[in-house]
Amino acid sequence: MTNKREYKDSYPDKTLYLPGPTEVREDVIDAMCEPMFGHRMDRMTDLYTTVVEDTKEFLDTDNEVIVLTASGTAFMESTVQNLVDENLLCATCGSFSERQANIAERLGKSVDRLEYDWGTAVKPEDVREALESGAEYDAVTCVMNETSTGVRNPIEEIGDVVAEYPDTYFIVDAISALGGDYVDIDAHGIDVIFTSVQKAFAMPPGLAVCVVSEDAYEREREKESAAWYGGFQRTLDYYDRKGQTHSTPAIPVMLAYRKQMKHMLEEGHEARDQRHRQMAEYTRDWARKHFDLFAEEGYRSRTVTCVENTQGIDVEATIEQVSEEYDMVFADGYGSTLGQQTFRIGHMGEHTVESIGALTDAIEDVARL
Ligand SMILES: Cc1ncc(COP(=O)(O)O)c(C=O)c1O
Repeated sequence: MTNKREYKDSYPDKTLYLPGPTEVREDVIDAMCEPMFGHRMDRMTDLYTTVVEDTKEFLDTDNEVIVLTASGTAFMESTVQNLVDENLLCATCGSFSERQANIAERLGKSVDRLEYDWGTAVKPEDVREALESGAEYDAVTCVMNETSTGVRNPIEEIGDVVAEYPDTYFIVDAISALGGDYVDIDAHGIDVIFTSVQKAFAMPPGLAVCVVSEDAYEREREKESAAWYGGFQRTLDYYDRKGQTHSTPAIPVMLAYRKQMKHMLEEGHEARDQRHRQMAEYTRDWARKHFDLFAEEGYRSRTVTCVENTQGIDVEATIEQVSEEYDMVFADGYGSTLGQQTFRIGHMGEHTVESIGALTDAIEDVARL
């Protein structure tokens, strides 16, 4: 049983090095403090059409964009509902990709897992082999960035393989990647790709973004069992007709999104990608010097590094002490298996090599490295 722990009026500010939520700019937080307005007012059309079109520009895609009040998990569910009648191939290589397979099973789909050990990446040739087996999959799912292990899967190459099977749709969970790791969505047959804004978009949580190809939209139209809330047709047709959302959105978070998307457009996806590569390289070099890296070489994430705790430090105690003494918070390993065996540094969103360096200095000090 959970007891109530009364929320207090003040808590110390902590700098977040989590793989989401992460640091949010002050003016983006401030943007939420507006008097409320109605979601059917013209002002809402201005706001929603601005965020949708700016997102398309930032992500460099001609596909359709949905910005929905939800966390990203909502799209893990609705995309399967929208596109899969029966058979689904789920590539699994860690906790979040396994969650995707579990969700699909709960929806009553017949799921074949293409399973990898945690820490290893999904290989395009294995996806090809599974597709060649003749199972006639409605869709293939793959996570772009397995946040539990720090693996970045080669979704571009996997997308090129799936694109050879026109009746099979490609669904990508890019929740901890988009905004910090560029992918040419339109060039690699990615039918659906989604993210949560509290990750590399560096936003307060509350919205999920999904990019939908025309083929995926058309496919959903043929289905009787598409999702209502996260249905492509319902959300995109509403946008087409009214420039608004089908139900009441988290308006303050959308105001923040508008502000942050302007910052992201100003930086541009190339510069943002480059900054994330530099942070990832810095963090990996530091991890190699003191520990080791959990993810397979050549497939390491640009937004989160999973450090293998080869020194046997007390991960929980170190996190606690760094938080107490430096007001910085990083993450332990994900789940019971990796809890103490690894720890994770989120280098995404607003962070820089310099700010990541401040954290690694703090860890060195506390863990006496
Ligand atoms: C790869 C991945 N998928 C799914 C999720 C779940 O996202 P949300 O909490 O926004 O629903 C996460 C969250 O960390 C994630 O990293």
